[in-house]
Amino acid sequence: MVKKIVGLLTAGGDCPGLNAAIRGVGKAANSLDIQVIGYLDGFRGLVENRFIRLDSSRLSGILTVGGTILGTSRDKPHKMPAGKLGTVDMRPFAVENYEKQHLDCLVCLGGGGTAKNALRLQKEGLNVITLPKTIDNDVWGTDVTFGFDTAMAIATEAIDRLHSTAESHHRVIVVEIMGHNAGWLALGSGVAGGADVILIPEIPYDIDKVADAVLHRSYIGKRFSIVAMSEGAMAAEKAKGKKGKSASDDDEESPFESVSMRLARNLETLTGLESRVTSLGHLQRGGAPSPTDRLLATRLGTACARLIEKGHYGVMVAIRGDDYVPIPLEEVAGERKTVPLDHPWVESARLVGTSFGD
Ligand code: F6P
Repeated sequence: MVKKIVGLLTAGGDCPGLNAAIRGVGKAANSLDIQVIGYLDGFRGLVENRFIRLDSSRLSGILTVGGTILGTSRDKPHKMPAGKLGTVDMRPFAVENYEKQHLDCLVCLGGGGTAKNALRLQKEGLNVITLPKTIDNDVWGTDVTFGFDTAMAIATEAIDRLHSTAESHHRVIVVEIMGHNAGWLALGSGVAGGADVILIPEIPYDIDKVADAVLHRSYIGKRFSIVAMSEGAMAAEKAKGKKGKSASDDDEESPFESVSMRLARNLETLTGLESRVTSLGHLQRGGAPSPTDRLLATRLGTACARLIEKGHYGVMVAIRGDDYVPIPLEEVAGERKTVPLDHPWVESARLVGTSFGD
């Protein structure tokens, strides 16, 4: 006998582990006599009432598959793009469709932005639960998000592979790593891959100090360097809202030049060493999830089903140590977890001689 019905959706950028989480919620819910439907393409599917039934056949064989079987989008219910109309507040349709399917709860798999959107729907009367996913690891309140471990492994492997070609050609290679405005991915993969310089948004850099670190390596016979650079990293002058002072860093920013291209160009000028750029981009979000992400996503998904059974709504399911903890959405929404300056990963990196350009 069906005791409850829940809707589930994946919103924001995809990441490895989403299908493992869908499977975790779905299989555990089904075993607790809770029926699950999956909305397609994030919140857009909810407002347009497009969904599929997540029965055992749909949930089978997806644990190891990357991406999301439901599709995703960055559309927000209160500001849904609507062609020539610009954006439209579609929250009334979300409420109507939730009621039409007699849902007891809406489960939203997403990052910080998704938690905010879920909270908005809660204020309209929906019961909601969120699960923290993102390769950026920037969701407040949880030790870690699923997707992060896999992306860190991909970026680390890239740094490993760049070492041999950088060394052969005696080059500086700047590798641009995703992470939005948080440096977790560049920091984690930079330490794991032994990058010589790590640049993250939380520690604004001085281009002259980055050049010094690269030149110092040349003086001691290491004629190549790997710079792991967050897409959100910025020069100290820019972080302070001032214009660059350094001779090579004060040129106008081009809208067509990425942060890593600009850094490589300036480093080549300052050091005289040939420089190249590798931008990992969406490779970091693709492919099968790591065992750690599969395990985390399954644990969070099954914990979510238990909370639904108990009627414990209005929370994000976080992982803290070995336990999962339901955290009120009001505490999570609008917060971001960035790298603390005294984080142990930063300290270890400094102790092994990595420069942060500060
Ligand atoms: O939030 C995940 C993320 O991959 C960020 O690291 C990156 O800044 C952004 O998404 C890229 O977004 P999109 O896939 O929409 O280009």
